Amino acid sequence: MTPRPEHRFTFGLWTVGNPGRDPFGEPTRAPVDPVDTVHRLADMGAWGVSLHDDDLIPWGTSPAERDRIVQRFDTALKERGMGIGMATTNLFTHPAFKDGAFTSNDRGVRRAAIGKAMRSIDLAAQLRAENYIFWGGREGTEVGAAKDPRDALERYREAIDVLGDYVVQQGYDLRFAIEPKPNEPRGDLWLPTVGHALHFITTLARPDMVGVNPEVAHETMAGLSFHHGVGQALWAGKLFHIDLNAQRIGRYDQDFRFGAEDLKEAFLLVRLLERAGYDGPRHFDAHAYRTEDAEGVWDFAAGCMRTYLALAERARHFDALPEVQEALAAASAPELAQRSTDGAGEADALKAESDGLDALARRGYANERLDQLVVEVLMGLR
Ligand code: GCO
Ligand code: MN
Ligand code: MN
Repeated sequence: MTPRPEHRFTFGLWTVGNPGRDPFGEPTRAPVDPVDTVHRLADMGAWGVSLHDDDLIPWGTSPAERDRIVQRFDTALKERGMGIGMATTNLFTHPAFKDGAFTSNDRGVRRAAIGKAMRSIDLAAQLRAENYIFWGGREGTEVGAAKDPRDALERYREAIDVLGDYVVQQGYDLRFAIEPKPNEPRGDLWLPTVGHALHFITTLARPDMVGVNPEVAHETMAGLSFHHGVGQALWAGKLFHIDLNAQRIGRYDQDFRFGAEDLKEAFLLVRLLERAGYDGPRHFDAHAYRTEDAEGVWDFAAGCMRTYLALAERARHFDALPEVQEALAAASAPELAQRSTDGAGEADALKAESDGLDALARRGYANERLDQLVVEVLMGLR
């Protein structure tokens, strides 16, 4: 249960640095120095951190001060052997982005947003980031009549294509990942789910360079199975990065500690990631409860990593239990990995087999037993 760098745990500067502000209340904690975050997380066994441009370099910082901040941060990263799992652009806080960034109706805002992303990509490359994330926190609308969705998606595509060209032109070793989200919080966003994002990627000029960054809270807010969304991203070879947290269905984003809600879904997720050999960053995009003081934040961070490791242990244990293997066999789970046919040449046989539906309907799949085993393994009864 001890986190080590090979587990590749990362935290956003904005996550452990979250001061506990909410729409009704002032911050309950002081800001955290990014350099202190690097040291503290390194002490705890994390692999690295992630950041928005403005998390490290507050908006409005002079170029000279910028260089000093980056230098000091990079020194801490190198001293502690910490990596950057992902970097991204803040295209949502500045009031100019109130109508969107890459998809604002104002062409000047769109150009400024692309320019801000280019500067932020330069920073990402300087800090050796693995992934560059696009989360369209303002890419949507509260007023449906204000934008034609086809134009907005075309502008989104244009921005990602131009930035892809920029990365190649600069010779940076960086790949992109799109982070879907259904709403933020009042408006409907473009690319609301993993499925929308996967299709969007196929329309890009450099589809191989772009994957997805699914987040537990985002698919859950849409009422979808995160486990299935991640499964489809893995199946498509597009799971470049992942945002782990917890969320109750039907609410605005809560960004709870990983595993704080719906342990069964978290278990299925971890089991899937581990079985698939996912080797990207395991990134916690969550924050501590507003009740926490400065120390409580590190309890939160330790809890995220410990729960992940505990679920990975439970998943291994689950799959090693003979009664689980029996229940999986009774459910015919391994059979799903076999081809259904040898092709359309089998048409006559397939047509004849369709007469067998009445007989095929008689069997059970023992799913009650299987699901109860999941629950009992999670509760430590087995
Ligand atoms: C959210 C998002 C963000 C993004 C971050 C990096 O709901 O606020 O999850 O935390 O992950 O901006 O893209
Ligand atoms: Mn989120
Ligand atoms: Mn996120």
